[in-house]
Amino acid sequence: MRLSASRFYVCPQCKAPLRLDMLEDSGEQVLSGTLSCRCGEVFEISHGIPDLTWPRQLASSDMEAKHWYDANADVYDENLHLTFDTFREDESAVRNRLVDKLDLREGSCVLELGAGSGRDSVLIAERLGPAGQLYLQDISLAILRKSFSKLAQYPVATEFHVGNACSLPFPDRVFDAVFHFGGLNTFSDIDGFFREVNRVAKIGAKIVVGDESMPVWLRNTEFGAILMNSNPLYRYDLPLQHLPVSCREVKLEWIIGGVFYVLEYRVGDGEPFADLDFEIPGIRGGSHRTRYHGVLEGVTAEAKSLAQQASAKSGKSMHRWLDDVVRSAATRDLESE
Ligand SMILES: C[S@@+](CC[C@H](N)C(=O)[O-])C[C@H]1O[C@@H](n2cnc3c(N)ncnc32)[C@H](O)[C@@H]1O
Repeated sequence: MRLSASRFYVCPQCKAPLRLDMLEDSGEQVLSGTLSCRCGEVFEISHGIPDLTWPRQLASSDMEAKHWYDANADVYDENLHLTFDTFREDESAVRNRLVDKLDLREGSCVLELGAGSGRDSVLIAERLGPAGQLYLQDISLAILRKSFSKLAQYPVATEFHVGNACSLPFPDRVFDAVFHFGGLNTFSDIDGFFREVNRVAKIGAKIVVGDESMPVWLRNTEFGAILMNSNPLYRYDLPLQHLPVSCREVKLEWIIGGVFYVLEYRVGDGEPFADLDFEIPGIRGGSHRTRYHGVLEGVTAEAKSLAQQASAKSGKSMHRWLDDVVRSAATRDLESE
C-alpha cells in the first residue's frame, strides 16, 4: 500500500479519516502497521495489504463466500473456462466488451469490487496509464493474491485491499468508474452494495455490474432447467429493485449464453429531473404536482356537474376555477369569527 493510499482510505464503518501507524515500510510502500479510526476500530495492514473488512462479524453468505474463495483460490483460474466453454463464448472478448462499457480514460480513477484473481482487472489496467489509479478489492485475500503478479506489469498505480463490497472504505464521490462482475448474487446486502457504489462514484461516473440470472422467459425451458440444476446461481433474480434513485441511463443486457446480466448506468444526483409544475392545457388544467398533492374530499355528482358548468362559463380550467373558489371560501371562513 502506498502512503498516499493510506490517506485515501476511510473507516468502512463511520467513513471518518484513518490514522496510519506504520510498523514496516519500504520507501513509499507501507508493508505493515494499522489504520485506526476515532470511532475505535483498528484495521491491520499485513504484507502491504490493508484488511478493511466491515462488519467484523460477516453475514453468513459473505462469510461462506470468503471461505469458499480462500479454499478454492488455487483452482479458480483453472476451472473458469468451463462456464465460457458451455456457451462457446470467448472469455477474453466477453470481458473486453464489459470493460469497454466503463468508458475509461488513461487518467481515470477506478474501483473494482470482488475483483477475484484479476481477470477483468488486467483489462482495466490495460486501459489506464501512469496517471490512472486502480483500486482492487475482494473479501478473500487468497483469491486477490492471484491478481498481484498479473497486475505488476502495468504502469497504473494499483492498490489492493481486503474488504466487503457492501461497506466501502472510501470517501464520497472519488471514482470515475466502478466495476463488479460475478459475485453480487450472494452479497448479503445488495441495497447496501449499490448505495455504497453510488456514494463513492463521482456524479457522471460509469458503473458496470453483472452476474448470473436465468432470464424469466427461459426459466421453464429444458435449457433453463438443466443449467439451473448444474449451477443454482442461475436462479437468482435481477437486482433491479436494489438500484438507488440516483441511477441514470440504465441499460440491461444478457451475455454469456444469455444467462448472465450486465447492468450499466451513470450516477446522478438524487431523483431525476422532471418539470412537475407547468400548467397543463385543457379543461382539467393544473400541473402534475397539483393533480397529485391537491386532491380534496369528493363532492356529490350534482356539485361536480355545477362546478364543471361554472368553470366552463368562467373560461378557466377546472383546476384554476376550483383553486380560486376553495381559496376564497377558505380565506372567508378563516377570517370570520
Ligand atoms: C465468481 S468470483 C468473480 C471474480 C472476478 N470478478 C471474475 O469475474 O473472475 C466472485 C468474487 O467475489 C468475491 N466476493 C464474494 N462476496 C464478496 C463481498 N461481500 N465483498 C467483496 N467480494 C466478495 C469472491 O471472493 C470472489 O472473488
